[in-house]
Amino acid sequence: MSALALFGGPKAVQSDPGDIFRWPVISPEAEDAVLEVLRAGKMSGVDITKEFEREYAAWQGVRYALAHNNGTAALHAAMFGVGIGKGDEVICPSITYWASCLSVFSLGGTVVFADIDPVTLNIDPDNIERHITERTKAILVVHYQGYPADMDRIMAIARRYRLAVIEDGSHAHGALYKGRMVGSIGDVSAFSLMSGKSLACGEGGILLTNDRCIYERAMIFGHYERSEEITLPELVEGVGLPWGGCKYRMHQLTSAVGRVQLRNYPAQMMEIDSAMNYFWDLLEGVPGIRPHRPPKDSGLTMGGWYMPSGLYHPEELSGLSLYRFCHAVTAEGSVCRPGCNKALHLHPLLNTIDVYDDGRPTRLACLPTGVDVRQPIGSLPVAEGIQERVFGVPWFKRVYSQIIEEHAAAFRKVVENHRDLLVDDPGNPPHLGSWGLSLRGT
Ligand SMILES: Cc1ncc(COP(=O)(O)O)c(C=O)c1O
Repeated sequence: MSALALFGGPKAVQSDPGDIFRWPVISPEAEDAVLEVLRAGKMSGVDITKEFEREYAAWQGVRYALAHNNGTAALHAAMFGVGIGKGDEVICPSITYWASCLSVFSLGGTVVFADIDPVTLNIDPDNIERHITERTKAILVVHYQGYPADMDRIMAIARRYRLAVIEDGSHAHGALYKGRMVGSIGDVSAFSLMSGKSLACGEGGILLTNDRCIYERAMIFGHYERSEEITLPELVEGVGLPWGGCKYRMHQLTSAVGRVQLRNYPAQMMEIDSAMNYFWDLLEGVPGIRPHRPPKDSGLTMGGWYMPSGLYHPEELSGLSLYRFCHAVTAEGSVCRPGCNKALHLHPLLNTIDVYDDGRPTRLACLPTGVDVRQPIGSLPVAEGIQERVFGVPWFKRVYSQIIEEHAAAFRKVVENHRDLLVDDPGNPPHLGSWGLSLRGT
């Protein structure tokens, strides 16, 4: 009889997880900060938000930070900040959360997707140039699941074609690219700060830049009440109303929590980094599975390891489906979710749907007649197939060695006994992955 828990054997994970997965961690200090805001009735002010912005900018080593009510809003403002407008194209990886790019439509622009690298899961620099046209204005980079994108190559391409670079750092707070903080390398960056993220503040987002013009454009887009901070002559005449028609200021409960979280985060991030590296080190050399993490001594780090993943190589496990593999690991008491984000370029919203009643798909609405940037199935093969090669692993927040060892043992045990799973392997379902990643299971 098989030793696998799926077939009645003992589970590899026996220990109580305690708080190893607990997230977000809200300290009494954060609770007090919230109560202070409530008692002062300052929920809709900006004074605490400005403190948070100053502290965030200092931590990141950038000149300007502008807090938003969510990461989606910060990305929207970043696009307006770099001047995306009617008929402009933004190049974005197809594997990301939709908020990286969808707000471009409301600016009259559109998105063109690039394929990803199967090891980093980030935009593939080799695939960017073929998507550049005379309409391209920006490259939107996502540091997917904490893995810093290849910024040297991306910045070189951007400079060659005079494109702006927008970093979406929502998965990578505090991650380093060759020793530099992600989010401080491109022209502008945006981070989600919602509660599931590594730097968890509540619904919130932040925009960072060293460029005064981008900062002020973002300000005038959705922060009408901060008119006195606008100095650029081309903007000053329009102060008083938000040019984007949006109200994007951060709720001060979030700012107050954020100030505390920001102080605690570096230590939490170090602990998560140690825990996750320990887990993957225990699995070094195990066939069929590899960590989604940069090589040691690369100068790249994973920040808070948002939604960590492994890469699956079924060819090393007699073709065992990812679905079956994950099912068996889960039965051992660990966490193993098949898939990652689905390829955005295949969704009907990016193909057929006419959101604003333009008489043609929104993706094409502001492009010259006859120009079609849609990307049919088969056009970005890595992005289309990656869901069968990525699996979510436990996101440890604490270095509890015994528990981490049990989880690593669950993966190792399934690999060692994988042949028992080949019989009755139903194969992968036709559509693995999801449009948004979920924390369920951890
Ligand atoms: C890559 C990425 N970008 C942007 C966002 C949007 O942030 P928010 O949910 O704060 O609007 C998220 C997550 O939610 C994300 O995962």
